[in-house]
Amino acid sequence: MRKIVIAGNWKMFKTQAESKEFLQGFLPHLEETPETREVLLCPPFTGLSVLSKYLHGSRVQLGAQNLHWEEFGAYTGEISGPMLSEIGVRYVIVGHSERRQYFGETDATVNLRLRAAQRHGLMPILCVGETKQQRDAGETESLIINQLDKDLVDIDQENLVIAYEPIWAIGTGDTCEATEANRVIGLIRSKLGNPNVSIQYGGSVKPNNIDEIMAQPEIDGVLVGGASLEPESFARLVNYQEL
Ligand code: 13P
Repeated sequence: MRKIVIAGNWKMFKTQAESKEFLQGFLPHLEETPETREVLLCPPFTGLSVLSKYLHGSRVQLGAQNLHWEEFGAYTGEISGPMLSEIGVRYVIVGHSERRQYFGETDATVNLRLRAAQRHGLMPILCVGETKQQRDAGETESLIINQLDKDLVDIDQENLVIAYEPIWAIGTGDTCEATEANRVIGLIRSKLGNPNVSIQYGGSVKPNNIDEIMAQPEIDGVLVGGASLEPESFARLVNYQEL
């Protein structure tokens, strides 16, 4: 069974005080949220412990934005799987395009991080997607298939979420047409060996387009940046209307 996963990726936003304030505004809205929807928040590392404390006993799951492949060691600035699972983290985003673009993440390191997540009982969310230039050159399909081929070597697809995030749609307000996101996600699904993998769409998901996106048959959830930072707008996303 494919799970619906609605995830907020806070990127490098929110202090601990701001995170607490967000929860006060957001949590009451969950009373309306159908039980079948998994709701997930991925704050920066400093926000994880405070959210872990305040989300205890709530249905909101906690996700990190990255992890290193070793359990410990001399890797300044990195964090490991056991450090995340110890404080109640369940999910971890791996291979986000911002990590690939600004921090030298490659398909090889993405694969190592995915393996580490699974080894430590964390559910990885693998991000894939093309640039505007690649889309315009007609390379979307080949690029994504190449990313999947390299990133998923020896990965257990039973414990995996994928997010299709076209880079040109991230933070731009230029959302991918819902039917086009559905088509690409269908293509990703056809390349997987397991029918249970949830595949999200990410890139300028907003209260005004969530219902149409979630109405697409191949789309199992969303990975949201900007619109997850404000309690009312994220509440509208988790409480999307079925069309
Ligand atoms: P936006 O929702 O701000 O476009 O960001 C999408 C994203 O990168 C989520 O990981």
